Amino acid sequence: KHFYVINGPNLNRLGKREPTVYGKETLEDLEAYVSTKAEALGCKVTCFQSNIEGEIVNWIHQAEDEQAAGILLNPAAFTHYSYAIREAISSVAVPVIEIHLSNVHAREPFRHQSVTAAVTKGQIVGFGFRGYELALRALLEEE
Ligand code: DQA
Repeated sequence: KHFYVINGPNLNRLGKREPTVYGKETLEDLEAYVSTKAEALGCKVTCFQSNIEGEIVNWIHQAEDEQAAGILLNPAAFTHYSYAIREAISSVAVPVIEIHLSNVHAREPFRHQSVTAAVTKGQIVGFGFRGYELALRALLEEE
């Protein structure tokens, strides 16, 4: 099985960006972590990151076109206001799990709302990198 991993804006700054919130490991470390976990679980991931909303929309469509078995999506700040990403998720049959590294509910009020979560299979928040592994396991067990 093949899964898409899509990380949104500013996640390319992981490691340097607010390390007390997001840790010292980089996006490269995160992608290596997810790839290793996927391999151990007998599946494959393709990782994407963009700071541009439309690219994320396009990759969600592409996941369906390429018959991906699911999407691990961290929409980052777009979570809180992007109806375009929400509707991209609604427009595909591919199951999506929303992931946040930090526990958004323990942070500023604007992070408590997700406009995207309602159209995903579910949300995993606050477990750091491990959230991506948990999402993979959840999608693999679903099918
Ligand atoms: C985040 C949480 C969002 O509120 C924030 O805008 C991010 C990262 C997380 O992974 O914890 O960029 O999605």
